[in-house]
Amino acid sequence: MSESSHINDEPETPAEVSRRTFMAQMTVVAGSLVGIGVAIPVLAGLVPSKDVLDAGKPQWYPLNADEFTQFEQAAADPMKITFTKKTVDGYLVDVGDEYVWGIRMTPDQEAQFKADRPDLFQSSGGAVNYEVPVTYKNIGIVLFSPVCPHLGCRFNWVKDQQIFLCPCHGSTYTKFGKHMLGPANRGLDPLPFEDKSGVAEVTWINYDETTADRIVLSYT
Ligand code: FES
Repeated sequence: MSESSHINDEPETPAEVSRRTFMAQMTVVAGSLVGIGVAIPVLAGLVPSKDVLDAGKPQWYPLNADEFTQFEQAAADPMKITFTKKTVDGYLVDVGDEYVWGIRMTPDQEAQFKADRPDLFQSSGGAVNYEVPVTYKNIGIVLFSPVCPHLGCRFNWVKDQQIFLCPCHGSTYTKFGKHMLGPANRGLDPLPFEDKSGVAEVTWINYDETTADRIVLSYT
């Protein structure tokens, strides 16, 4: 037997045992810290963001302030007003530009609006059950979704004819969104609007298409 193997066969001293135990414990601690360091970011990535948690709930979006001021002060015709909208699909949040059509009304026009659109001022008690918020009645402003209620194209304002015209299948609507011609089954869809401490905000709604009833599908 060599001298070195003889030395290794010597019983360890208490100090050696203690040092080896300490080193083993430190190895376990270091491994645990590395594991925690990896796990925290991974777990944090699995926690849903507020946008994800709020998906499906009505959201209020501030309208472009300059455009809204211009609309309030000058627009006799319907006007596009833009805002930044979030769309949440699962864990993916997409932020992009969107717009609504704003219509300003004199008191006389407001009376015309109510006469043209009784569907917006009556509660059916059924699936439709959508009433224009009180603010529309008081401040003479209505916001329409830019989505055609027929099959979802974007319609345009034709100034010289004073109508909204959808390029896809030719549906036409009055300035107040009353359906005139074409295959659509209802008038233009309003969007809730409010003035929060001087900031005009809108809620986006996806309505069911083609139905005569105005049915809310989602708020994204
Ligand atoms: Fe507008 Fe068909 S999508 S008329």
